[in-house]
Amino acid sequence: MVEIRRVAIIGFGTMGSGIAQVFAQAGFKVVAVDVSEDALKRGLSLVWEGPYGLKKAVEKGRLTEEQAREAFSRISVTTSIQEAVRESDLVIEAVFEDLEVKRKVFREVDAAAPPNAILASNTSTLSITALAAVTKRPDKVVGMHFFNPPQVMKLVEVVKGFLTSDETVEVVRSLAERLGKVPVVCKDSPGFIANRIGVLPILEAIRLYESGVATASDIDQAMKLGYNWPMGPLELADFIGLDVLLGIAEILYRETGNQAYHPPPLLRRLVAAGYLGRKSGRGFHVYR
Ligand SMILES: NC(=O)c1ccc[n+]([C@@H]2O[C@H](COP(=O)([O-])OP(=O)(O)OC[C@H]3O[C@@H](n4cnc5c(N)ncnc54)[C@H](O)[C@@H]3O)[C@@H](O)[C@H]2O)c1
Repeated sequence: MVEIRRVAIIGFGTMGSGIAQVFAQAGFKVVAVDVSEDALKRGLSLVWEGPYGLKKAVEKGRLTEEQAREAFSRISVTTSIQEAVRESDLVIEAVFEDLEVKRKVFREVDAAAPPNAILASNTSTLSITALAAVTKRPDKVVGMHFFNPPQVMKLVEVVKGFLTSDETVEVVRSLAERLGKVPVVCKDSPGFIANRIGVLPILEAIRLYESGVATASDIDQAMKLGYNWPMGPLELADFIGLDVLLGIAEILYRETGNQAYHPPPLLRRLVAAGYLGRKSGRGFHVYR
């Protein structure tokens, strides 16, 4: 079995920076790639001083100052995919959720990475089989789906594409455990497990709100107190980002034909108005 020592992360945004930090804290050497020096700087500052970054971990007593510095020093950055993947055993792609952008990255990575390297995608909804198809190693292409924020969330969905080998699935599954995560394995199906199920009650909550049945706060209260949800469905929508949620719903509706995934018109209006949830300060609730 391939031993994973060096990891390359392509896309150093919200997820890429969190995933890089998780690997670095577990002792792996990580090279992160993004399209510009500015993007790399932003990613590094998320790792160091972001809301779930190393500095916060020190403040909360989870890491010593020295452990944090050591973890940070394991992460290097570059704008060159070729340079990053040349000596990597595992490449994790975390660029925009766009099939064509991802396929281009997979072609470049496949051409430059060692032949036995595993190529993983952090996609939330796109087909692992469709990404594997542009490479010469479809048996080594797999989904490794972390949840946001990767530093906190325990779940990793390990997604087996149509041609992914059992060995590749096993390497990634046991690697997730080494990172302190809890892996679940599933086939390449739209939305995998968690988004396929989790998006439905959120969309239903939006429809209830849209039709004036209750206020956003009361809808959230009902699910927190009645179903013991840690967050109400509309708070959760704001946390995910309404644009991200809309993208997921559109893909699931297109792929499954199930009307329950049809995005409510209000969700589209909010996104068009720039109300994207927590990150823009306003979604179903107001944050500043
Ligand atoms: N945000 C979430 O809640 C979440 C959760 C789980 C999975 N995901 C998935 O993770 C992936 C990344 O999402 P995100 O929220 O981190 O997005 P993001 O926009 O924060 O980060 C994406 C990064 O990729 C970079 N990038 C784009 N094209 C590139 C290229 N060709 N080469 C190198 N870098 C490139 C961008 O500059 C950006 O920094 C998506 O597939 C998304 O579906 C997101």
